[in-house]
Amino acid sequence: MKLTVLNAKWLCAVALLISIAACSENADVARTASVTPSETPIEKVALDVYKSPTCGCCEKWVDHVEANGFHTEIHHPDAAGLNRVKSNNGIAAHYQSCHTAISADGYVFEGHIPAPTIERFLLEKPPSAIGLAVPGMPVGSPGMEMGKRRDAYDVLLLKKDGSSEVYERMGTDL
Ligand code: CU
Ligand code: CU
Repeated sequence: MKLTVLNAKWLCAVALLISIAACSENADVARTASVTPSETPIEKVALDVYKSPTCGCCEKWVDHVEANGFHTEIHHPDAAGLNRVKSNNGIAAHYQSCHTAISADGYVFEGHIPAPTIERFLLEKPPSAIGLAVPGMPVGSPGMEMGKRRDAYDVLLLKKDGSSEVYERMGTDL
């Protein structure tokens, strides 16, 4: 439990440092990439976002979902509180990332999930799903832009029984 918190904090700190470095070179590129409003207007959905007050990539992800039509309410619990939000909402250690968002109807969205994928999930509301997660912090995911670098990563569908499956694969060519 402790390790997870430290791990998430450490990831955040490193990402922040790297993104600061990337920002000074590529601020405009990163900015444009993170703010790509969806083509079709969606119903405004409210998300409660739980994060550390010092996490830069979390703020960039918040900007991304806001630019895509979501409303956000930001919460800054301490590290133990943040960990409690995750465990109380069924996000096991291996699914965890820096921030946790919870929709008004109780679905959880862990980490740097692209806004269009959250929209699709909320339209489909797959049975027995509790939400989505992008574990860790893949480079090139929304809020984790670092110039042209991109990792392939999976958006996982989290199930009520604690298992998961791939909901969407994000390639390096996106
Ligand atoms: Cu992050
Ligand atoms: Cu974050």
